[in-house]
Amino acid sequence: VIIENGTQLYASCNTTEEDFEELSLCLGNVCCENTQKDGVVSCVARVSDFEMRAECKMKLNETHECSEGREITVYIENPKVMLSVRNGNATQSDYELQCDVFDVAPAQNISVTWYRNNKTFESFMNSTEEPEKTSYVLGVNISREEKFAEFRCEVQLKFEELKPQHPVISTTHHLSARYCGLTVTPAEVYVKYGDSASINCSTTIKDAAIMSWEFAVGETSGASPPHVTWMIEKLEDFTVEPFCFVTLDTNEQCKMKPNITLYKLPDSVVVSAVGNRPMKEGEEHQLQCHIYNVAPAKKLSVKWYKDDETVLTDDLQSSDVTPLPKCLNDSTVRLCNVSSIYTFTVKKSDNGSPFRCEAEFQFGPAGPLVPPSMASEPYTAVVHYKPTIKNCPSYYAGVENSFRLNDLPCETDGNPPPAIEWYYNGTLIDSFKLLTRAESGIYTATAHNSMGQVNIDVHITVEYAPRFSCQMLYEVEVKDMLKPLCKPEGLPLPTITWFKNGKEHFSQHWEKHESGNYSVKASNKHGTAEHTFYLDILYPPEFTQPDTTTGVVVDGNVSLVWEADGNPKPEIQCNDSLAENVRASTVGRQRIITVTRATSTNAGRYICVATNKVGKVTRATTLVLQENG
Ligand SMILES: *[C@@H]1O[C@H](CO)[C@@H](O)[C@H](O)[C@H]1NC(C)=O
Ligand SMILES: *[C@@H]1O[C@H](CO)[C@@H](O)[C@H](O)[C@H]1NC(C)=O
Ligand SMILES: *[C@@H]1O[C@H](CO)[C@@H](O)[C@H](O)[C@H]1NC(C)=O
Ligand SMILES: *[C@@H]1O[C@H](CO)[C@@H](O)[C@H](O)[C@H]1NC(C)=O
Ligand SMILES: *[C@@H]1O[C@H](CO)[C@@H](O)[C@H](O)[C@H]1NC(C)=O
Ligand SMILES: *[C@@H]1O[C@H](CO)[C@@H](O)[C@H](O)[C@H]1NC(C)=O
Ligand SMILES: *[C@@H]1O[C@H](CO)[C@@H](O)[C@H](O)[C@H]1NC(C)=O
Ligand SMILES: *[C@@H]1O[C@H](CO)[C@@H](O)[C@H](O)[C@H]1NC(C)=O
Ligand SMILES: *[C@@H]1O[C@H](CO)[C@@H](O)[C@H](O)[C@H]1NC(C)=O
Ligand SMILES: *[C@@H]1O[C@H](CO)[C@@H](O)[C@H](O)[C@H]1NC(C)=O
Ligand SMILES: *[C@@H]1O[C@H](CO)[C@@H](O)[C@H](O)[C@H]1NC(C)=O
Ligand SMILES: *[C@@H]1O[C@H](CO)[C@@H](O)[C@H](O)[C@H]1NC(C)=O
Repeated sequence: VIIENGTQLYASCNTTEEDFEELSLCLGNVCCENTQKDGVVSCVARVSDFEMRAECKMKLNETHECSEGREITVYIENPKVMLSVRNGNATQSDYELQCDVFDVAPAQNISVTWYRNNKTFESFMNSTEEPEKTSYVLGVNISREEKFAEFRCEVQLKFEELKPQHPVISTTHHLSARYCGLTVTPAEVYVKYGDSASINCSTTIKDAAIMSWEFAVGETSGASPPHVTWMIEKLEDFTVEPFCFVTLDTNEQCKMKPNITLYKLPDSVVVSAVGNRPMKEGEEHQLQCHIYNVAPAKKLSVKWYKDDETVLTDDLQSSDVTPLPKCLNDSTVRLCNVSSIYTFTVKKSDNGSPFRCEAEFQFGPAGPLVPPSMASEPYTAVVHYKPTIKNCPSYYAGVENSFRLNDLPCETDGNPPPAIEWYYNGTLIDSFKLLTRAESGIYTATAHNSMGQVNIDVHITVEYAPRFSCQMLYEVEVKDMLKPLCKPEGLPLPTITWFKNGKEHFSQHWEKHESGNYSVKASNKHGTAEHTFYLDILYPPEFTQPDTTTGVVVDGNVSLVWEADGNPKPEIQCNDSLAENVRASTVGRQRIITVTRATSTNAGRYICVATNKVGKVTRATTLVLQENG
C-alpha cells in the first residue's frame, strides 16, 4: 500500500472462521475490534508515520491465535527543494551549487537533475537513507567566453507502485564568469614604513590586449604580458592601492588587487601612571601605555610586563578598558595614537618593580616571521606601604654601660622608610643612651609612616659583672648554720668559690679554730670579683677538765687549776671569798687557786665560771682534808 501523508486510510479484515473469540485490526497505533462477531473488522486512521503497518489479529481460543499484516508506505506529495550558490575553490571550480531536498519520503529512490541553460547537465538516481534532508553539491566552471550561465536543480520521487510524480523544481540562479586567470604574487604583502616593495602580476590569457598595473606611487617594469611587476623603492604612502588589470579584445576588463599592509612602528611607547597620587598598598591603580603614531593600530596587541613576566595581554580592538580613539575605526586616518590601561591592586612587592608595555603587530601567518614590536622603557613603581619591624627579639640581654637600644638587630621596612622609636612605660627613650642595671624592663619599639604604625615589645635584661660590697670582718658562731655571708651582686647570678689561705674551701658548716682570712670569688660571663675578709668563728667557753675531787694534808700545800677554751678567750672567775692562806691568780688560760698550809677551813667546793660573749660554763673542784700519814 502506498498512501500520501496526511490522508485517511480505510482498511478492513474478514475471516471465514465462525468460531473465534476476538478479531481486531490495528493501523499504526489506531486499533479497532470486531464487535458483531460477523467476521469483519474495519478501521480508519490518518496516515502520519512514515513507517506504518496494518495488522489484523484473530484469537480462536485460549491457546490459538493468528495474524496477518501489511506494510504501508507513506509518501509526501511535494518535497521542498532549495538551490544555493557559493564561490568555489579556485583550483577546483568557479562556483559550488548546492541543492537541498527537504521533507522527502519515503526513504526511496529520488532522481536529481541539474540543468545548465535549460539543458540537462547531470542526472542521477539516489536512494536516500535519512529522509528529512538531503544535499547534492555540484562544482561548475563558467568560461570567459561563456560569460554567464543559468542553473537549476529538479528532484523527482520514483518508485514502482506509484504513478510518476511531478518533479519539484528549484529557483534558477544566474551566474557570471568569475576568473580570467590573473594572479598577483605575493597576494598579501606586509611592508615596513619606508621599505621597498615589489609585486608580480601574471595571466594565463593568451589574447590580452593590454596588461598593466594601475598605481599612484612606484613604477612598473617588465611591462610585457603575461608578466608585469610593480615596485617601489621607499613605500611611505598609506593610500597605496595598486592593482593589476588585463583588457581583452572584447573590451572586457579584469582586475586583481594585492592586499598591501604598510605598517609603521610607533614613534614611541611610554608607560605612565594614571592620576597623580602615590601608589598605596591594597589600592587599585592604573598604568597607561601610550603608543604614538602607529599604523595599522587595529592590528596591535599590547602586552604588559612586570619584572619580565606577562601580566596582561590587551587586544586593542576588544578591550573595554581602553578608550578607543576614532582613528581605529576611521579607515581614512592611518597614523593613530592609542593607549592601553593596566589596572591592578597594588602589592607591597610591587615597590621598585619595573613595569613595561610592548606593542606588537598581529599579522597572522602571511605576516613577517617575527612580529614587529616595540617596548617601552620600564616604569618603576613606587609603592607606599605600612611599616613592619623584623629581626627584633622578644627577649634580649645586654651588658650594663655598653648596651644601648640602638644595638638591637631590629630592622624596619616600609615606604616612606620609617624610623624606629623606643618607648619605656610610655616615655620616649634615647636609643643611644647606655642602659644601667636599674633599667631592665619591657621596651616598645614603634615604627610609623604615613601608611600606619607598628609596635613590638622587647623584654630587656641589663646584665652586669659581679661586685662585692662586703665587710672586712665577719663574726659567726659555731652553732649558727652556715648563713650566707658577703653575697655579691651580679647578673646572671654569679657562681661563688670560697678560699682560705689561698686554697679552695668547701666546708659546709663553721668549725672551731677555723677563724682566719677567707676570700670569696664570684664569676659570671661578664667578669670576676674577689673579696677578702677576716672570719671570726666564735664558740662558748668549755673547761678542759671535768669536776674533780682533790685531797690535801693538814699543813700541806695544794694548787687547784681551771683551764678553759673559747673564742673570744673566756674570762674565769671563782666565786669564793678566799681565806688568808688562799691566793688566786691567772696565768694564760688558767685560773689557779693556791692553798698554803691547809687547815680544815680550807676544805669544801671551789666553783669557777668561765665566760665569753657567746656563753659561760661552771666547774667545781672539791678539796678534801686528809689524815697525816
Ligand atoms: C504528515 O502528515 C501529518 C498529519 O497530517 C503532518 O502533521 C505532518 O507534518 C506531515 N509530514 C510532512 C513531512 O509533511
Ligand atoms: C472478504 O470480503 C471480500 C470483499 O467484501 C470478499 O471478496 C471476500 O470473499 C471475503 N472473504 C472472506 C473470507 O469472507
Ligand atoms: C483451539 O482451536 C484449535 C483449532 O480449532 C483446536 O485444534 C484446539 O483444540 C482448540 N483448543 C481448545 C483448548 O479449545
Ligand atoms: C582548494 O583545494 C585544494 C585541493 O583540495 C586545497 O589544497 C586548497 O587548500 C584549497 N584552497 C582553499 C582556499 O580552500
Ligand atoms: C574548473 O576549472 C579548473 C581549472 O581549469 C579545473 O581544474 C577544474 O577541474 C574545473 N572544474 C570543473 C567542475 O569543471
Ligand atoms: C530557459 O527557459 C526559460 C523559460 O522558457 C527562458 O525564459 C530562459 O531564457 C531560458 N534560458 C536560457 C539560457 O536559454
Ligand atoms: C530504485 O531504483 C532502482 C534502479 O533504477 C530500481 O531497480 C529500484 O526498483 C528502485 N526502487 C524503488 C523502490 O523504486
Ligand atoms: C617576480 O618575477 C621576477 C621575474 O620573473 C622574479 O625574479 C621575482 O622573484 C618575482 N617576485 C615575486 C615576489 O614573486
Ligand atoms: C585581499 O583580502 C580580501 C579580504 O580579506 C580578500 O577577499 C581578497 O581575496 C584578498 N586579495 C587577494 C589578492 O588575496
Ligand atoms: C599623537 O600624539 C602626539 C603627541 O600628543 C601628537 O603630536 C600627534 O599628532 C598625535 N598623532 C595622532 C595621529 O593623533
Ligand atoms: C609607669 O608610668 C606610670 C604612670 O606614668 C607609673 O605609675 C608607673 O610607676 C610607671 N612604671 C614604671 C615601671 O616606671
Ligand atoms: C690575715 O691577714 C692580715 C692582713 O693581711 C694579716 O695581718 C694577718 O696576719 C692574717 N691572719 C692570718 C691568721 O693569716
